[in-house]
Amino acid sequence: MTLHSKTPIGLDGVVAAATALSHVDGERGELIIAGQRLGELARSASFEEVTTRLWSLAHGEEIDPDGVKTGLGVARERAFETLPRILAASDGLPVIAGSRAGVAALGPVDGLSDETAIIGAMPVIAAALARRVNGLAPVAPDRSLGHAADTLRMLRGEAPTEAEAKALDAYLVTVSDHGMNASTFAARVVASTNADLFMAATAGYCALTGPLHGGAPEPVLAMLDAIGSRDNIAGWIDAALARGERLMGFGHRIYRVRDPRADVLRTAVGLLGGRGVDLGFAAEVEAYARVALAKAKPDRPLDTNVEFYTAILLDALRIPRAAFTPIFATGRAAGWTAHAREQQRTGRLLRPASLYTGVAPG
Ligand code: ACO
Repeated sequence: MTLHSKTPIGLDGVVAAATALSHVDGERGELIIAGQRLGELARSASFEEVTTRLWSLAHGEEIDPDGVKTGLGVARERAFETLPRILAASDGLPVIAGSRAGVAALGPVDGLSDETAIIGAMPVIAAALARRVNGLAPVAPDRSLGHAADTLRMLRGEAPTEAEAKALDAYLVTVSDHGMNASTFAARVVASTNADLFMAATAGYCALTGPLHGGAPEPVLAMLDAIGSRDNIAGWIDAALARGERLMGFGHRIYRVRDPRADVLRTAVGLLGGRGVDLGFAAEVEAYARVALAKAKPDRPLDTNVEFYTAILLDALRIPRAAFTPIFATGRAAGWTAHAREQQRTGRLLRPASLYTGVAPG
């Protein structure tokens, strides 16, 4: 292959893998996960059911959803038993980096598939680390609860309401998979070397943490805090864009219209009865930002992405900001593990090319 200066850098539009797991239509603003449109899926299926469907597609055989629900409960308990080791390995680290150490410390668990062990452990680690920041002891999981409800319980030390559990469940479904996003790609690259799922999930987690990907929701809240009031929306956004800053929660590599996940998450916030950031204020910020971005970048459609309402939803659920990315990872781990299996089944090493810009030896 000849590489020249017009070769796309950043892999835009490059097909790295074939997948039956999800599809992002950036022009129409449509997301299909496990064969269903997101809106329909989030209304009708739990996180456990969506995870089961993704794993079934990845393995090429039907997996029993009840087994997945039971397995995740057991996996949370097993992960809780290993917490002392994980807490020691992450001593002194902030929650996001501590979670990386926690995910990296995971390994096979007797009687559980590797994917079950990984997803079960994610919220146990996130909750324990988020509580440690405030000097609180970890809360043991309750295997009788759904993954979303138990996640909130482990974070707070008390059972969530049904509406709260439903809202977090809708969030986990919404972020469960999203085509060849950066963290999924990272997980697939690692899996393509035939490294195991724990290696792949650790790579996925690391890629997720950056603010251009899953690290954006915390800065979204910081932006909303800084704007503060309706009077300040226009002035703050105009000044930020004039300084050449990026508005967090806007823009996407694939979507050229509003991210369809934003609507699902906005609906989920509505279930919570007005807690957290005022939705009317958020909608005004969103509306102004969309217009201001269209003016600032007329050649590049930039619209609301998933992170804008992720931040508002997770805040309304009283999840500490530092735990936002690890909670995102709890949902996305369904996709990482499914993609890693799907990749391994192809037997194909992912190994792209690079454009050499160095000196040609004489
Ligand atoms: N605010 C202001 N300007 C922006 C924004 C934004 N949010 N996003 C892109 N732009 C500008 C860029 O500065 C660039 O301008 P230039 O051509 O004058 O240099 C132009 O739009 C094109 O930007 P790219 O970097 O080429 O767009 P890309 O597809 O690589 O970026 C990304 C996508 C990283 C999400 C970007 O839109 C961004 O940084 N958004 C803010 C962070 C964010 O919300 N991240 C979460 C993404 S969703 C997720 O991963 C789960």
